[in-house]
Amino acid sequence: MKLLFVAVIVAVLGLGCCDTPANCTYDDVQGTWKFYISKDVGDRTMDCSKMGSVGSIRKINLKYPDLATDEFGNEGFWTMVYNQGFEVVIAGRKFFAFSKYKGSLQNATSYCDQTMPGWSHDVVEHQWSCYYGEKLEKLAPKATHLIDESQMKSSVYKPNPDYIRQLNEASSTWKATIYAEYEGMHLIDLHRRNGGSRSRVSSPGRGLLKEETKMAAVNLPESWDWRNVDGVDFVSPVRNQGGCGSCYAFSSMAMNEARIRVMSNNTQMPVFSPQDIVDCCQYSQGCDGGFPYLVGGKYAEDFGLVDESCDPYVGEDRKCKSTSCSRRYATRYRYVGGYYGACNEQEMKLALQRGPLSVSFMVYDDFMHYKSGVYRHSGLTDKYNPFEITNHAVLLVGYGADEGTKYWIVKNSWGKGWGEEGYFRILRGADECAIESIAVETFPVL
Ligand SMILES: *[C@@H]1O[C@H](CO)[C@@H](O)[C@H](O)[C@H]1NC(C)=O
Ligand SMILES: *[C@@H]1O[C@H](CO)[C@@H](O)[C@H](O)[C@H]1NC(C)=O
Ligand SMILES: *[C@@H]1O[C@H](CO)[C@@H](O)[C@H](O)[C@H]1NC(C)=O
Repeated sequence: MKLLFVAVIVAVLGLGCCDTPANCTYDDVQGTWKFYISKDVGDRTMDCSKMGSVGSIRKINLKYPDLATDEFGNEGFWTMVYNQGFEVVIAGRKFFAFSKYKGSLQNATSYCDQTMPGWSHDVVEHQWSCYYGEKLEKLAPKATHLIDESQMKSSVYKPNPDYIRQLNEASSTWKATIYAEYEGMHLIDLHRRNGGSRSRVSSPGRGLLKEETKMAAVNLPESWDWRNVDGVDFVSPVRNQGGCGSCYAFSSMAMNEARIRVMSNNTQMPVFSPQDIVDCCQYSQGCDGGFPYLVGGKYAEDFGLVDESCDPYVGEDRKCKSTSCSRRYATRYRYVGGYYGACNEQEMKLALQRGPLSVSFMVYDDFMHYKSGVYRHSGLTDKYNPFEITNHAVLLVGYGADEGTKYWIVKNSWGKGWGEEGYFRILRGADECAIESIAVETFPVL
């Protein structure tokens, strides 16, 4: 019922779902843009879901990979945010907007030479305006091929012991199991839990390994685990996101929670509210997905995070209610390596020394059955339960090696009963399931 209701709203308004259906690349976006900035100036409460009248125009050139220049010759920074939009920081102002799209769930069109109305403010959070961008060079609209969810909506998960047996025969590094709690769940809910229907792109691949990164990484320890640094645990407890596609919110909250513990030597141990993100964050799409760069990073900087007790988790989309709860902020959020596409194992190991990182990876149906060991994708599919590949956000807390098999240690948000007490290990150094492609870090304000 609720899903149907959401689907109707989306069809009527043509608004976001499932991340957004935009599917734009560096190639599409690099070039010269005009940013049309609203006449209205306000604070963070400005409603930028629609644009007011235009007060000024800026001309900004974006050059791959991360150089932005304006009409006055100022130099700044830009990055794609996956395939969803792009952020520019130049001459003391930040600009973020989603790339323009139209259409419904199954049939969307991206207009990568334009943006939706977005948010602009100076780097110290003053002078908010709305804006939209238009690229001087026109691009042909692109159709996005989103997943057909109808089959997953009507199907219920059926345990498939044969599949588990095949997985255990095929993999030497990890063990699979049947999770009783999946039985009877709708595939669509499991699918949303796995990350939801994103307009997926292939991994941008690992960024080039810079000489200075290589040198710096040489001195890093052989293994690391933020749950046990000389006997001290800096990671907040494992949580359960349920059937809502809010993994990005859990990953983002967990990163800020752990980094505050690290920075305060465990004298501050907040637990933040992912429900506040689901309800209130306009930089993400509620139970239909989002990205840690925009949530654990940008939302935490622009709007701040509230405590779990302020908005306890229910795992459904609700209307945002204003609260007077106190907020905690973070700053200097960044893609590990500097921009989207610059990530690699050594950069991740270095950034991890400052605290846990939000990372994302592709979830295939074998992963749902992970029990223990070092996961690598088996290539086997579960014919009873036809899932689509999704992109799932989690928290990187450490790394190590087991008889020569290098792994990352990762905190999931599927409860403590899943995997290795809520955690899993995954092959390291091979961009397994794109886990080395999109790490994010942020710096909480103590
Ligand atoms: C998809 O959308 C386009 C343009 O909005 C329309 O022309 C086309 O008929 C639609 N296709 C389907 C299968 O609904
Ligand atoms: C997004 O675009 C890329 C290339 O531009 C394409 O390979 C991919 O299939 C597209 N994704 C969707 C969901 O349409
Ligand atoms: C951090 O906390 C531990 C345990 O309470 C304490 O032993 C240690 O001295 C603290 N470190 C610093 C730098 O204060």
